[in-house]
Amino acid sequence: MKIVPRIKQQPERLIDENGLRVDGRRVDELRKMKMEVGVLKQADGSAYLEQGKTKVFVAVYGPRELHPRHLALPDRALLRCTYRMASFSVEERKSPAPSRREIELSKVIRQALEPAVFLERFPKTAIDVFIEIIQADGGTRCASITAASLALADAGIPMSDLVAAVAVGKVDGHIVLDINDIEDKYGQGDMPVALMPRKKQITLLQLDGKWTPEEFRQGLELAIRGCEQIYAMQKTALRKRYLEVREEVLREGE
Ligand code: CDP
Repeated sequence: MKIVPRIKQQPERLIDENGLRVDGRRVDELRKMKMEVGVLKQADGSAYLEQGKTKVFVAVYGPRELHPRHLALPDRALLRCTYRMASFSVEERKSPAPSRREIELSKVIRQALEPAVFLERFPKTAIDVFIEIIQADGGTRCASITAASLALADAGIPMSDLVAAVAVGKVDGHIVLDINDIEDKYGQGDMPVALMPRKKQITLLQLDGKWTPEEFRQGLELAIRGCEQIYAMQKTALRKRYLEVREEVLREGE
């Protein structure tokens, strides 16, 4: 049996003569997305999100009693985020032990969500957000933020806005929306952005690679437009869930 290496090879170019990307998208096009809310029975709130081949589950528990107690904050809830990648989620098996990258992303995701949550309403408690990456194809931190804010809303946790996130990148000299793994690996830079769209408040902005001020401006504008499209999908997913719950309650009352 011939063993074929599964590691993605560097493509000759990332944008073709028609201006289309390796997966056929235009530069300003999001990957195909699927969002579902209330997908896990045990959790207080949950969400499932697909963004192209990136797939993520989020479970939210809380506000609940905090253990260990000494971590409790007297004036607000403690938001805890745990970002984990399944061993089978990437091409090269990921060790199940928490990596530095997972610990860092857990913190980055928490900081992107915190401004939206009314933590001061639940002093001394914990709100736990568990993020499991089932399949990774680039943009997992942003997909996690988008899905986590849906799961928090599903848990009924009061928020001033949802948080929507997407990464833009610099690929073959073009600024492109929602980069996938190949574009992330072989492009010249990426910029993940999270936005509270109603307030127009940016809660995450990271930058990798060399960008001119004009490229940065263009990238940020593209990311904000992308977040606004994602926000519209988030609201649709939440509305669908509430209509389902309403149906269930009406049926039970019959
Ligand atoms: O996923 P995100 O772009 O937010 O974070 P990253 O650290 O820039 O990782 C980019 C991509 O690299 C991930 O989405 C995965 O597809 C891939 N990756 C991998 O193949 N193996 C890992 N251990 C970590 C990341």
